[in-house]
Amino acid sequence: MPLIRSYIGVEEEQEVLAALRSGLIGTGPRTERFEKAFAAYLGRKHAIGTDSCTSALHLALRTFGVGPGDEVITTPMTFVATANSIIYAGAKPVFVDVEPDTLNIDPEQVQRAITARTKAVIPVHLYGHPCEMDALAALAKRHRLKVVGDCAHAIEAEYRGKKVGALGDADCFSFYATKNLATGNGGMLVTDDDQVAAEVRSLRDHGMTEGAWNRYHSGEFAHFAMTKLGYKSIMWDLPAALGLHQLARLEQRYGKRVALAALYEELLAPLAPAVRPLRRRAHVRHAYHLYPVLLHGVDRDRVANELVQRGIGVGVHYRPVHLEPFYQEHYGHRQGEFPVAEQAAARLLSLPFWPEMAEEDVRRCVDELGRAVRAVAHSTRETSGDWAG
Ligand SMILES: Cc1ncc(COP(=O)(O)O)c(C=O)c1O
Repeated sequence: MPLIRSYIGVEEEQEVLAALRSGLIGTGPRTERFEKAFAAYLGRKHAIGTDSCTSALHLALRTFGVGPGDEVITTPMTFVATANSIIYAGAKPVFVDVEPDTLNIDPEQVQRAITARTKAVIPVHLYGHPCEMDALAALAKRHRLKVVGDCAHAIEAEYRGKKVGALGDADCFSFYATKNLATGNGGMLVTDDDQVAAEVRSLRDHGMTEGAWNRYHSGEFAHFAMTKLGYKSIMWDLPAALGLHQLARLEQRYGKRVALAALYEELLAPLAPAVRPLRRRAHVRHAYHLYPVLLHGVDRDRVANELVQRGIGVGVHYRPVHLEPFYQEHYGHRQGEFPVAEQAAARLLSLPFWPEMAEEDVRRCVDELGRAVRAVAHSTRETSGDWAG
């Protein structure tokens, strides 16, 4: 039982084949179509395809002028890519603690961390649950900070009736193989600002004045200049061919995510307090990218190991970034700095979750989880007699 499984339909197969047969496999018409469709889905003016969310985050920060001497505030409860993008831009990642129920960045902690050097904040809509964007937007306005949304988990998510991917100065998406919309590798940056869009389009393609597709399809011969040092971060047409059809079935699959999450919640209820799902706040549409639970009174790693041995794929999302050896070594971070994130991270376990799971699959996962928790609790009691659960 894998933790996540993507779904590739015949539409994707045919589109990829058509792209291959057209001979156009670089950045081309399918990338453009996917960008337009993605912008329309979110109601944004511009969508710019990249090779990853990591690149999109980096390009956003570069475009907003973030560089050496600047600070960018983000959460330690994320994949390392979020914080790494800040370092790529030459700035310092400043972590703040998270809210205990959603594990999303805590706006009060953001406020405390703002200094004269702070240029931007990267809220990560963790697992697909939107961050408290009203509070963050108010802080950003007051302190003139750019908001760069990490929407890697949150394409379908809404905050107070608005798509979360429409709330930042720029919002960044991942189409990595495990994501709700999967193209293998790929990303997208969306914005409503024409200048930001033009700069990102240039930076993603070596800093050229025109992208590769336009260079050769403008209808007349022209020279194009490199005006700044950019990167090779373009999207290309094979992943875009996948993305077009992944996007078309996103909402239909989303309906199944909601139903599966409700089933998990119902079946997990008898395992409380040893196992507890995370809560959803009333004013959000949760994208349900992952299905994490919090364990109480049992050793998480031992439960994870029991489940893996029983053929159930599990994951930990995430170990706090500030405690990764690189961040401890280079930024002097230590255990105990962000207690809410650290305590949750020690207890988190993501369960198998993808829309095509059958009800029996969910039942089997919950049964095996119950058995694993009891087995670990039993052996802990036998050896120490101190299990409280
Ligand atoms: C929260 C978060 N941000 C950023 C990324 C980076 O995405 P990509 O792999 O597309 O660069 C990921 C990928 O797993 C992620 O989970």
